[in-house]
Amino acid sequence: MKTSLTGIKPTHLPHLGNYLGAIRPALSLVDHYRTLYFIADYHALTTVRDAEALRGYIRDVAATWLACGLDPERTLLYRQSDVPEVFELAWVLSCLIATGQLERGHAFKDVVARGESPNAGIFNYPVLMAADILLYDTDVVPIGKDQKQHLELTRDVATRLNHSYGDGTLVVPEALIGEAPLVPGTDGEKMSKSKGNGIPLFEPSKKLRKVIMGIKTSSESLEDPKPAEGSTVYQLYALIAPGEAPEMKRKLEAGGYGWGHAKEALFEAVDAEIGPKREAYLAIRADEAQLDALLHSGADKAREIAHATIQRVRRAVGID
Ligand code: TRP
Repeated sequence: MKTSLTGIKPTHLPHLGNYLGAIRPALSLVDHYRTLYFIADYHALTTVRDAEALRGYIRDVAATWLACGLDPERTLLYRQSDVPEVFELAWVLSCLIATGQLERGHAFKDVVARGESPNAGIFNYPVLMAADILLYDTDVVPIGKDQKQHLELTRDVATRLNHSYGDGTLVVPEALIGEAPLVPGTDGEKMSKSKGNGIPLFEPSKKLRKVIMGIKTSSESLEDPKPAEGSTVYQLYALIAPGEAPEMKRKLEAGGYGWGHAKEALFEAVDAEIGPKREAYLAIRADEAQLDALLHSGADKAREIAHATIQRVRRAVGID
């Protein structure tokens, strides 16, 4: 089986968009790959400046993935920071990457374009990400389009290292660019924490219902036919309940079916899908000692792989 690796940056409590756009698709890979999922806590440090909040997000993210079905018996789940070998590899890689290549990084350029001065962590972000991937002999990395450039840099530097120091030192990974669905938030824009348009994943049903009832819609009267395609309510419904979606589309387009009805149906479908996961999440999140122990035992196994890679790299570059 090939190895697939995914990093998750713990910058906020995951929302429905994370579940539909990232978590659910990623968890479907376990049947086809040996899977490694890690919490990229050192990457989060480029933006999160509140220690207590970061501590919370790390556990929120781990508990969310576990509650959504990540089986730690089949998937290696660990914290990036529990495997410090990643920094050793990052240094070696950084000596093979031109600063110009990092200056062309999208994230780095975006910060500069906003007129802000990026910290060196943002500049070096892609180097640490390459080390995350290469440390574990990763064959494929499932990513969204926004991470494509990072993968290209990873492949580049791995190829360069192999070329300089011997083929087979590092595995050159492939990007697995999935058709990650675009999940709209309550205002119709892509759901994102920073836009404040998120639909919560594990808040109580009542709160969930309130947020869903607040989704922006067009203002036809109840009798009017309504456009399903392109409406936020229908798009979300199609992601949650694909089997029932054609029926909702028909009703909306026929008229006599209001946005309120559609939102009610959406709420019920979301609540049915995440209700059991919410229970699991609350239980996992409540037992921090057990959650931490689980992450540590994942890290022990991850370190075995990391150790072998770093030995190989050290020997290859002449530091052994
Ligand atoms: N940069 C990724 C993101 O923002 C997170 C990440 C860090 C990652 N290291 C990784 C993803 C390694 C895949 C592989 O989503």
